[in-house]
Amino acid sequence: MENILMLNSNYSLLKLKVEFLNYKNFCYIIVDKDSQEAAIIDPAWDIDKISDKIGQLDVKLTSIFLTHSHYDHTNLAEHLVKRYNSHVFMSKDEINHYGYRCPKLNALSDKDSIYIGNTKVSCMLTPGHTFGSSCYLLQGSLFTGDTVFIEGCGICTGTGASAEQMYDSIQNIKNNVSHDTKIYPGHSYGKMPGYSLSYLLKENIYFQIDNKDIFISYRMRKNQGNLFDFK
Ligand SMILES: [Fe+2]
Repeated sequence: MENILMLNSNYSLLKLKVEFLNYKNFCYIIVDKDSQEAAIIDPAWDIDKISDKIGQLDVKLTSIFLTHSHYDHTNLAEHLVKRYNSHVFMSKDEINHYGYRCPKLNALSDKDSIYIGNTKVSCMLTPGHTFGSSCYLLQGSLFTGDTVFIEGCGICTGTGASAEQMYDSIQNIKNNVSHDTKIYPGHSYGKMPGYSLSYLLKENIYFQIDNKDIFISYRMRKNQGNLFDFK
């Protein structure tokens, strides 16, 4: 799905599918139109594809946003810092809980904002998949990492994960993000990134369960198949 440039009011968005063995991740390049400054979200696996695209776009990569510390979302951050001298951003909770380290790393709290030129990127703390997972909210777009997929939500079984917090994070998204916002996850299980939150409210079961206990038992149910059946 690379090479699709979507035009919004003040920024362009490019999604890049990057792969390694069974892993298929989406990372995203945001370009502020006025300044030609750019940011990347969750850079992983394919440095040639990413750096070629940055070169083609002829942008200055000022920022790297990481939704959480798992290796399949972070493994090119340090490489990109060395190459482009960008700043790296991750939630303070995630950094502290897992001891994540990277040059030029900056810690974000909930609702902190960073500007890419004139484009505002806000940190939305959404724990559950990991202790300090965060989404990044721009006007019209929410980058969700492994918190929310078009078809579901992230697993809550790893160190620092919590299905209870995942429930609260999904309620936070439901109640505080405009429903016409497009959702851009770190993986696809069939549906491509870019469906609106209103679509997820209708089609994603994790957005429909309004009882926390039922949500937790459903999220933690046994014998879940296809957890790594990435598309
Ligand atoms: Fe993850």
